[in-house]
Amino acid sequence: MVEEGVVRQALRTVLHPKLGKSLIDIGMISDISIQGEAVTVTLALKSYRSPLRSFLTSQIEKVVTALPGVASVQVEIAIMSREESERLFPHAPLKGVEKVSRFLAVASGKGGVGKTTVAVNVALALARQGCKVGLLDADVYGPSVPMMLGITEALDQVKGMIEPQEKYGLRIVSLGMTAGQNDAFIWRGPLVSKMLHNLLDQVQWGELDYLVIDLPPGTGDPSIAIAQALPNCLILMVTTPQDVALADVRRSIGLFHKTGQKIIGLVENMSYFLTSPSAEPIEIFGHGGGEKLSRETGIPLLGRIPLDLELRKGGDNGVPLMVSAPESSAAAVFQKIGKQILDINAAAL
Ligand SMILES: Nc1ncnc2c1ncn2[C@@H]1O[C@H](COP(=O)(O)OP(=O)(O)O)[C@@H](O)[C@H]1O
Ligand SMILES: [Mg+2]
Repeated sequence: MVEEGVVRQALRTVLHPKLGKSLIDIGMISDISIQGEAVTVTLALKSYRSPLRSFLTSQIEKVVTALPGVASVQVEIAIMSREESERLFPHAPLKGVEKVSRFLAVASGKGGVGKTTVAVNVALALARQGCKVGLLDADVYGPSVPMMLGITEALDQVKGMIEPQEKYGLRIVSLGMTAGQNDAFIWRGPLVSKMLHNLLDQVQWGELDYLVIDLPPGTGDPSIAIAQALPNCLILMVTTPQDVALADVRRSIGLFHKTGQKIIGLVENMSYFLTSPSAEPIEIFGHGGGEKLSRETGIPLLGRIPLDLELRKGGDNGVPLMVSAPESSAAAVFQKIGKQILDINAAAL
């Protein structure tokens, strides 16, 4: 039977191709177990999809199989904790967001629940409370911020950095401002991460109290990329009354818990309809979903937004409700949500 020390010694010859150091020395071999002539080596990687996975696996197999007393080698993959991966591969600081105090990403389980509507109007509500606010449209699959804010011009570059566009007091960047707005984006995982990284690194966001990020729906690569790039990003989760029972909302909440992000609140959109300001609310999509989810998850419900014709029109004509009708009752809900976000942050300081 081969000794563990011998296996360890052999593995010293396997180097990380970028770092040029042995996997043993940098702690990427998290376990070696030997049973008779079978050796199992556990390789710790940043993610299951690491491009190094197959290369390192075959290198490990090669050197360990060559040892006397070894009949078989199995390489198992373990995922590094964020601390381990930060230690090994420290992130270069993201230049563009150096002066941003807080990140607030707006997420949802699925599309069409009003995520962008909430992101835009909450960003405006925070601005009305006196904050300097940026808005990053990270919905790579359907960037709709330019349409909702009536922006038709492309972005400018100054000294190699992208300049956000100013509208309604917000600093705004969207991929819909870089290409034809009707282009369909079909981005694959690694490209998405790279591009989102660039939107944080190469955009001159300047001094901001909040950068509000409109995420694509669900738990795909973009949400994971933002979570990894911005570990302190706060999450606001948008649901509708009828979809709180759905698995995708829970999956989405689960993802952010797993990546260590704090979900600061739920927003229930399309909660009710008022036929007149004093009328009894009609709960078209059912009642109590947001409250139930909040009770179950312990995440506070920050507001219930009515189905509102002005809100829908605002989304289509480029003048959001918080600009066209800031005194309306639907706008008051956004104001209340903005206020609570500020209070939660103040309490956390
Ligand atoms: N509370 C609401 N009342 C009326 N229309 C709404 C409301 N919330 C969203 N909408 C409309 O529903 C559509 C989808 O909203 P959007 O914010 O684009 O969703 P998502 O970003 O989640 O895909 C848009 O036309 C928007 O104007
Ligand atoms: Mg959207």
